[in-house]
Amino acid sequence: MVYLTILATVALITTAVARPQSSSSPTPAAPDLSKSTCEETASRLYLPDPPHDNYFYSDCHTSVHVIVTSPRSESDLKIVKPRLLVAWPAGNSGVLALFAPESGQEGTLNISLKSSGDSALDSINDSNHVGISGSIDFNTTARLTVPILGSIRSIRDFTEGGSVNQDFQNSFGFALNADGGATINRTWLDGVTTTTLTFTPLNSAKAIVLNREAAWTLTFGTGTYRFEASYNYPQLEQLSPQEDLTGAASGLIAQNPDQTTSLSFLSYTDKLLAGTWRFLTYFGRDSMISMLLMQPILSEAAIEAVIGSVLERVNRTDGTVCHEEVLGDYATWLNRKDGIKSNAPRCDYKMIDTDFYLPIAMTSYFVDTEPGKQRSDAFFSKTASFLAENNGLKYSQLAQLTAEKIMRIATPFTQSQVMENLIHIKDGEQVGEWRDSNQGLGGGRTPYDVNTALVPAGLRAIAALSRAGFFSNHPDWSDVADQYAQIWEDETLRFFQINVPQTNAVSLVQNYVSSAGLSIPTNTDQIVGDITYYGLALNGSVGDPVVPVMNTDDCFRHFFLNTTNQTQLSAYLGQTANHILQPFPVGLSSDVGLFVANPAYSGDAVFATGFSQDDYHGTVVWSWQLAMMGAGLARQLGRCGGSDAPDFCTDTTLHAKILSAYNRLWDIIDANPDQLSHEVWSWRYDNGFKVEQLGAFISTESNVRQLWSLTFLAVHREKFGSS
Ligand SMILES: *[C@@H]1O[C@H](CO)[C@@H](O)[C@H](O)[C@H]1NC(C)=O
Ligand SMILES: *[C@@H]1O[C@H](CO)[C@@H](O)[C@H](O)[C@H]1NC(C)=O
Ligand SMILES: *[C@@H]1O[C@H](CO)[C@@H](O)[C@H](O)[C@H]1NC(C)=O
Ligand SMILES: *[C@@H]1O[C@H](CO)[C@@H](O)[C@H](O)[C@H]1NC(C)=O
Ligand SMILES: *[C@@H]1O[C@H](CO)[C@@H](O)[C@H](O)[C@H]1NC(C)=O
Ligand SMILES: *[C@@H]1O[C@H](CO)[C@@H](O)[C@H](O)[C@H]1NC(C)=O
Ligand SMILES: *[C@@H]1O[C@H](CO)[C@@H](O)[C@H](O)[C@H]1NC(C)=O
Ligand SMILES: *[C@@H]1O[C@H](CO)[C@@H](O)[C@H](O)[C@H]1NC(C)=O
Repeated sequence: MVYLTILATVALITTAVARPQSSSSPTPAAPDLSKSTCEETASRLYLPDPPHDNYFYSDCHTSVHVIVTSPRSESDLKIVKPRLLVAWPAGNSGVLALFAPESGQEGTLNISLKSSGDSALDSINDSNHVGISGSIDFNTTARLTVPILGSIRSIRDFTEGGSVNQDFQNSFGFALNADGGATINRTWLDGVTTTTLTFTPLNSAKAIVLNREAAWTLTFGTGTYRFEASYNYPQLEQLSPQEDLTGAASGLIAQNPDQTTSLSFLSYTDKLLAGTWRFLTYFGRDSMISMLLMQPILSEAAIEAVIGSVLERVNRTDGTVCHEEVLGDYATWLNRKDGIKSNAPRCDYKMIDTDFYLPIAMTSYFVDTEPGKQRSDAFFSKTASFLAENNGLKYSQLAQLTAEKIMRIATPFTQSQVMENLIHIKDGEQVGEWRDSNQGLGGGRTPYDVNTALVPAGLRAIAALSRAGFFSNHPDWSDVADQYAQIWEDETLRFFQINVPQTNAVSLVQNYVSSAGLSIPTNTDQIVGDITYYGLALNGSVGDPVVPVMNTDDCFRHFFLNTTNQTQLSAYLGQTANHILQPFPVGLSSDVGLFVANPAYSGDAVFATGFSQDDYHGTVVWSWQLAMMGAGLARQLGRCGGSDAPDFCTDTTLHAKILSAYNRLWDIIDANPDQLSHEVWSWRYDNGFKVEQLGAFISTESNVRQLWSLTFLAVHREKFGSS
């Protein structure tokens, strides 16, 4: 192999930038390939998701997700381009090769893996690289126009924003090989890790041509080429489907091979990952919500991986729980921008909702289950090792830091129940909870889910933990946290409540449908009274102090709290039931799921546009919101069997309505089995709502498998008698 000059590929940069030759902690170790063959056979899964073909591969050396995208006749060619994408959980690392037809005429190139189906890929475990190989077919002459070798974060930035920082793109090595093949490699900013992508012609396909233009590109002939993508980076230790699930749930492996293999692909001994390919790393909110929804079927190893990963990453200065970790090449780059020469991982602490899930998850396992109780002492005496700044801190200390933060920020509202004492997103941030796209909260700053559900549920959990012996230097929390919780439970809903008189409701919905240009029925005959709902957040961008967007976030209170003000609870359950029973745009339901947001009552074009069917948190369906609504309503209905059944249980009309909403929800869920494991989906209207992938409208793709979308493995329709 002859290595040629190092040149920029994406933009015109002619000099290579010097890389740091050495780096401080921790230096990546080469993968351990002491076992060149694995005892277990490799796990493979093929998931077609037009225009993407997804291939999952895992063995004892590596786990990898390979995506081959090829535009279909119906694809928007500005968004969907031919590409080969390789995503490795270890280091949130990846390779992107973007292709274009040599003719320049978009839409004329089809690429595909040679043997489709399960066995399209094989692993590479040479002396110190791990990776994946396969054969790719081009149906016409093709050009590799953009390579990205390094971090999934860079690939995501490129895919969504159209650009990737030059720091990652100015140091490729290009080589033409004696067999007619070509290799592109890049050494990471750590100076140690190298990602390599090699193509080799097969079956007399033409030799690859290197075009030494401003940006170097490779030209391929029609036909088949073998590709190999590999890197030398320490790999994670995966939890197999058997290790992920309790013994009692192991039957799911045969019943749901797709979901259990996907769950295993996202499960490792020290963390669970949020989804693939775009969020192939630790996310605190995603892992804890998934754990809580799936807890009955998850093994101790999986649950402790989740809680341990969260504790490891707590900010020791103020107790904030980490939202997203940053690893690998991207971490080195961010460190360098901060003037630090280090490959150490980093954490993003900008979310305000994630803290509360920690005590909830801890209680749900270490207080409420027998195995959790038994293992609690050993678990909490572990010491942190992931973040250098937390080195040596006990898990119990880290948990207490978060509990102290929650107690601290929850106090002002317990003293004076005014809007200013509610919890708002951080100054200077546009996002702070799960609706974390810029439009997601409609410009609101004080989110509904956090204030009406997560704060009180976190406080209840702290009280329960305190009673179970946690936080021994705050013995008063067993009472105080409960008193605080009561106030937050009872006094927060009213800030978010919106009432729309019946006649206004009809005209608002009609105007919404016509001004947003939606060719859908208005369903206004379903408006038989005033409409009540709880807005997404306070202090929206359009003047109104409550963001007037109906939404599915009621599910948080239903799932996390057993509130006790009977008038309030009955009314609250009643309005949730209405929104499920009433079809969009009057309510939230459609043939393809509940829409997580409905701006029909806003009377404002800004909201109508910001919450459309091509917005990530717009009139679209998120699988886990369906799961949490199903699980939450089941918890509330489940209270009717107990000794202190709430009032709604004996109000036969109301109880019947809630039960019928519950069953309507499950009819909708059951009608969409192919979507449920996806992150998010949208729709088109064609004589009914029809599923359309969000990625067909915008460059934000939905992950084909998302951790919290696998929760239907555990969440099912339950049987409730009528009262
Ligand atoms: C790598 O390991 C896998 C799993 O044991 C095996 O199937 C494959 O042949 C190995 N590849 C090489 C190049 O040794
Ligand atoms: C692309 O090629 C594959 C393999 O020949 C074929 O199955 C697929 O239908 C083609 N796609 C299009 C859009 O033509
Ligand atoms: C290659 O596939 C594309 C997309 O399906 C198609 O439009 C084009 O005609 C095909 N080209 C050849 C030479 O078969
Ligand atoms: C690419 O690989 C070759 C051969 O191993 C090596 O000499 C060269 O330094 C590598 N280049 C980069 C940018 O990693
Ligand atoms: C941890 O919290 C402190 C106090 O809020 C903040 O100054 C610091 O930047 C945070 N650490 C990181 C790594 O963000
Ligand atoms: C939010 O809006 C209300 C009502 O307009 C106002 O009283 C309050 O000061 C605002 N709060 C913030 C933080 O802007
Ligand atoms: C229960 O909530 C309602 C508002 O929904 C309020 O009017 C009432 O005073 C509350 N009752 C108690 C006992 O707090
Ligand atoms: C609420 O009650 C239901 C039914 O008894 C129970 O399943 C659930 O765990 C309770 N939730 C909380 C947060 O206590």
